[in-house]
This record gives sequence, C-alpha cells and structure tokens, in this order.
Amino acid sequence: MMAAQKYETPALAVLPERHAAEMDLAARLAAQLRGKPDSVLGLATGNSMVGVYRALVEMHRNEGLSFARATSFNLDEYCGLPNGHPSSFASYMQDHLFAHVDMPRNSAHLPDENSCAEYEAAIAKKGIDLQILGIGRNGHIGFNEPGAAVTSRTRVVELAAATRAANQRDFPDGETVPTHAVTMGIATILSARSILLLATGEAKADALARALEGPITPDNPACFLRLHSDVTVISDRDAARFLSSTRTNTDA
Ligand code: GLP
Repeated sequence: MMAAQKYETPALAVLPERHAAEMDLAARLAAQLRGKPDSVLGLATGNSMVGVYRALVEMHRNEGLSFARATSFNLDEYCGLPNGHPSSFASYMQDHLFAHVDMPRNSAHLPDENSCAEYEAAIAKKGIDLQILGIGRNGHIGFNEPGAAVTSRTRVVELAAATRAANQRDFPDGETVPTHAVTMGIATILSARSILLLATGEAKADALARALEGPITPDNPACFLRLHSDVTVISDRDAARFLSSTRTNTDA
C-alpha cells in the first residue's frame, strides 16, 4: 500500500548557523501572518523554537506584527502535569510567546489528554494554514515517536525513553519527565496546508538525513512529511551535515 504513494522532495533552506535558521523560520511565519492576519497556526515547543518566538515577539514590538486575528493549535503537551507547571508546554508558550503578543487568550489552543477528539474536530473545522515543527533526535515530530502510524490523530502516547532523557533538562531537579503525552497525530500534521520544519545543531543531523533521504517507515516518523506537497525544511549547516551534498546547496 505504501509503495503506491507518491513521495515529495521537501524544499530545503540551509542557513550558515542556528540563529540565521531561527530568523528564517520566524520571517516565514511573519509573512504568513501579514498575508493572512486570521491565519490558523500550528505551533511547536522545544529548544529549537525559543529563538523563533523571541524573533516574533521582537517583530510584534518593533514592526507591528499582529497576532490579534490569528488562531493557534499546539502540537503536544505532557500528561499529568498540574496547571501552570513550569515544564508544561502551556507554560512554555505563555513564557515565550503568548504573554508578549496580542493574540486573544481564547484563540490559543493546546491539546488536553481528556479531549483528544474535540481537539481534532476543532482543527478539522478551522484547518491549519501553517504548521511549524521541530524534530526529535529519534525522528519524532510532535510526540509521534517511532512506530506512530501515518493515519494517527490526536491521542495519548507513551514517550520513548530517549525522548524522556532528552527532555529531562526542562524539568526541575527531583522531578522526572512524564511517561505519557498527548500529541497531534501524523495525519493531523499532514492535514496542514503548509509545513515548516526547523532542525538545528549536530544532534539533529542523523534524524534530518533519515527524514529526508532514508526509507519511508514508521520507525522514523518525520519521513512521513515526504507525503506532503508543501513542506520546507530549514536547517543550519550542523543539522544538514549528513544530507547529500547536491541537496545542501539548494536554498528554498
Ligand atoms: C520535543 C517536542 C517536539 C520537538 C522535539 C525537539 O520534545 N515534543 O515537538 O520538536 O522534542 O525538541 P528540541 O527543539 O528541544 O530539540
């Protein structure tokens, strides 16, 4: 069945260093918002996105970039954390973006482990115009860990040990990363009109090469992005180091 699928080649922009890659993603998101102020944005968390949100906040302050008519849906959230937990993705979004821009509070959505179907329905009703993504070292997108089905929708998943280890740095001493999270599925992500994936740093080089040039398999969830016709990958040179050289010269 998979063999009958048509695979796409995502556009690739390789920037010299991390900051430039973050600025590039921020500029593309800002262009989307300026072109369509009532855009529906799919938002991501993680270290990779901190500089992107910083740049967007600066554009809001200095250039009048407005989120007033935008709607957002975040990719994922940990299960079981109390409201306001500093390591929750809700707190992350508040700290890095929502508290600093003019997006109405009720326009920003995060998934909840108790209402996955409602979240999926709300996304289906609005349609995501632009989804931004990071990538996990094991190729996860959102919290779709290796093994995630291409047909998956918003649901509760068990986190891979490697993901919990990687994200431990975001939790206070003495607290461990939750074992489960709620995430948009692969099919949810692929329903976005366009997708931007940001990969920075050497630690992402293997995952990025497998995503763009490896076999299409659930063992490597990010490779499913090659089923979508409007994906742009933005990376720095470190993350692009294992891509075939013909591709790294291509600027999207
Ligand atoms: C996190 C998130 C992903 C993110 C990825 C990479 O745990 N669930 O959405 O893209 O892992 O995170 P980072 O940017 O911190 O490397």
